[in-house]
Amino acid sequence: MTAPDSTTPPLTTADIRRKFLEFFQSKGHLILPGHSVIAPDPTTMFTVAGMQQFKPQFMGAPAVFSQGESKRVTTAQKCVRMDDIENVGRTRRHLSLFEMMGNFSFGDYFKRDTIAWAWEFLTSPEWMGFDRDRLYVTIYVDDDEAFGYWTEDHGLPADHIHRFGADENFWPADAPLQGPNGPCGPCSEIYYDRGPKYGDDTWADYAETRESARFLEVWNLVFPEFDRQGLDENGEPVLAPLPFKNIDTGMGLERVASVVQDVPDFYTNDVFAPLIEKIAELSGRPYEGEQSVSHRVIAEHARSVSMVIADGVALSNTGRGYVVRKVLRRASRHAYLLGLTEPSIYQLVPLVVERMKDGYPELVTEQGRVQAAILAEEERFLRTLEGGMQRLNGLLESLGDEKVLSGEDAFTLYDTYGFPLDLTQEIAAEHGVDVDVTGYEVALERAQETARAGSKFGKSELFDAGAEAVQNLPQTEFVGYDLLDAEGEVLAVLEGEGGTHRTVVLDRTPFYAEGGGEVGDTGRLEWTNAAGERGEGRVLNTHKVGGVFLHEVDVLSGELSQGQRVRGVVGPERAAIQRHHTATHLLHAALRAVLGSGVRQAGSLVAPGRLRFDFTHAAALSAEELAAVETLVSRWVSANFPVHWQEMPIEAAKAAGATALFGEKYGDTVRVVNVEGDVDYQGAAVHSMELCGGAHVRRTGDIGAFVLLSDENVAAGVRRIEALAGEAATAWVRGQLGQLGRAANLLNTGSEGLEDRISGLQGQLRGAEKEVVQLKQQLAEAQMGGGSAGGDIRELGGYRVAAVRLSGVEGGALRGAADKLLESSGADLVVVASDSGLVVKASKDAVARGAHAGQLIGRLAAAGGGKGGGRPDMAQAGVQNADAALAALESALG
Ligand code: ALA
Repeated sequence: MTAPDSTTPPLTTADIRRKFLEFFQSKGHLILPGHSVIAPDPTTMFTVAGMQQFKPQFMGAPAVFSQGESKRVTTAQKCVRMDDIENVGRTRRHLSLFEMMGNFSFGDYFKRDTIAWAWEFLTSPEWMGFDRDRLYVTIYVDDDEAFGYWTEDHGLPADHIHRFGADENFWPADAPLQGPNGPCGPCSEIYYDRGPKYGDDTWADYAETRESARFLEVWNLVFPEFDRQGLDENGEPVLAPLPFKNIDTGMGLERVASVVQDVPDFYTNDVFAPLIEKIAELSGRPYEGEQSVSHRVIAEHARSVSMVIADGVALSNTGRGYVVRKVLRRASRHAYLLGLTEPSIYQLVPLVVERMKDGYPELVTEQGRVQAAILAEEERFLRTLEGGMQRLNGLLESLGDEKVLSGEDAFTLYDTYGFPLDLTQEIAAEHGVDVDVTGYEVALERAQETARAGSKFGKSELFDAGAEAVQNLPQTEFVGYDLLDAEGEVLAVLEGEGGTHRTVVLDRTPFYAEGGGEVGDTGRLEWTNAAGERGEGRVLNTHKVGGVFLHEVDVLSGELSQGQRVRGVVGPERAAIQRHHTATHLLHAALRAVLGSGVRQAGSLVAPGRLRFDFTHAAALSAEELAAVETLVSRWVSANFPVHWQEMPIEAAKAAGATALFGEKYGDTVRVVNVEGDVDYQGAAVHSMELCGGAHVRRTGDIGAFVLLSDENVAAGVRRIEALAGEAATAWVRGQLGQLGRAANLLNTGSEGLEDRISGLQGQLRGAEKEVVQLKQQLAEAQMGGGSAGGDIRELGGYRVAAVRLSGVEGGALRGAADKLLESSGADLVVVASDSGLVVKASKDAVARGAHAGQLIGRLAAAGGGKGGGRPDMAQAGVQNADAALAALESALG
């Protein structure tokens, strides 16, 4: 950047945003508002790029907007990426919400102009005034056209340009192979060299490692000219040309602001610095040391959550609203760590609005609502936070040597204290503890099932709402084993949640009510009233209370009233449910045939898309056992045995040997479902006779394909199998084959060659890793000049200290270098620093005299913006600025 005139303050973020839009307006662009953070299409949950709202225009839709018609537009876009929030605040490079400035062309100008304008905007003293010598670019590997414009039109030296493949210089990254489908194309990224203050790596290093604290990507120019349309039959991507060539760019506003303001990171720019200051003021804790993570987390999350809520996302327990709640709870916990035990984040909202309103004036009108939502959530969470932290700390302490927190415990923390799983994981990780995520999911699912059975559509609420009305009604006549389309009369209509929601009782119904593990039926009701008006409703679910069936109906048209005759039509899901139900019985019989009659059903779920079967068995099933069970079921299916059902007295059923569920209550008369037959497979006949009220296919052949997915442990001595039948099974297999094909394709082989190819690559990787380790060692040795470097030994607190600065050496090689130095220099203490690492070693003798490498490194690491520790004889640390750490040593050495 040209040296800023000391009398003019640097541009603010708002200035840069405004200038960008003005600049492109001066080039004939229409300024449009960015899209809401709620994504314009279902490919993502939140808006992640400026171009997302313009996909239709890229594909050829007319470029007509409510602000006017234009093939050139420019926007400021809030982009939200909340998937790796645990990094936000811990590093200074991740944000959960950032702003992307973009200019877009829909079949109008293309590469040459967009490159020229980006260059002009960045380098012209009238605009950003960056020093042109500090600009570097990457281009797509064969994009000679872009290379020509950069070098010939703008005089960029060829050694400021690097060519990458589709993993870096195609947008979306790697789109040809991986998708998503839709507009995509090569891109050219612009980097700014922040100078040696930030690192001593070179552009060539960046091209090698793709990581740098010094070369900062500021702008991505994308040239979308293709419409990816999936893969062809050979697994090659189909890249059809778009109707015309487009431009999509994204300039990182926070990044450009940190360059313009010459501040080291986002948190010291004009938007975040006041927030950080306010947090320090509210908490009385300065922004320094380890606790500064908390200031950053709170500041960043306060901004993103405020802006997302302002765009209309309500905090909730599912989907988008839950993601935002998790982020806010993470901030709340960090506020608590800073001693803020009363709601505090909501007090930051006015500052966020103040700093951001220039670009997003709607924040001003939404401020009150945003503050109220954040305050309410903070109050809610703070009520349980302390209890939850105590509980979690207690659990972590009691873990001893096993470093895994059980899924049950993680679930209780969520259920009782509102700790999102990733918050628990993050806190656990701070103690070096993992969380059993699978166990958590099992516990969560179990709780959800109980909740489904017991509340929303279930008994308790209905008893509250209309227990008497239901109790006095006659038992419903269920005709749905044989009929999927049947008439009945409305006996009662109860109001449900929402204006059109009703709970309807009929005298006679084809809809199966949830029970015995089988889900309730869905479908539709139709009727014509006395006045000849037609009505229709969607049946969303069916349950029963006693013998009275309750249909959850969304009335689409007309009115339902008592006495009305209606036609009930069960939806097509029933066929899939029946397949899964009969398949469950066959699976049960096959498990007993393979594993022995000790197998007892312990629970089941029969749904249109899958079946789940829990059973008693002590050990995991071997691959052979699973294959035997699957084959047996498939043979019984192919044999196409008839499935019979009949009602009989319970005693007769028991005498005939029917399997009943332990603990289940049955009436005097029971229904028995029976499959009998013999196949020529290891002499295994099927004898399946179960007490069951569920819906089944007529013959086993109706089941179609059958696939066993998994066998897992759910509780002591209880295992769970998931399986698929019919179309659900074939769709799953197709999906798996597709995945396998794509994986093979990525590795340029067929699926038969995949295993060989992977082990080949693993071998190569191991070889390469070894080589890297050797090279690093050589590099370290070369830099140490064969032991003569660091010969410069100085005094510190009575110890002889040698220090060296290396580059490009980490981990084991850095420790090895410290060993060498200790040996060759004869010093008591050695300090070896590399780009982001620090190792301190002390000789035996020095340790005996009281030297402590761990304590020394703590101080040096703090000066270098990192942390570390270790034993008296050896300690290591990660630092952000190795030079600052060494400088701290220098000043101590005096
Ligand atoms: N759409 C491009 C990006 O997000 C500009 O990087």
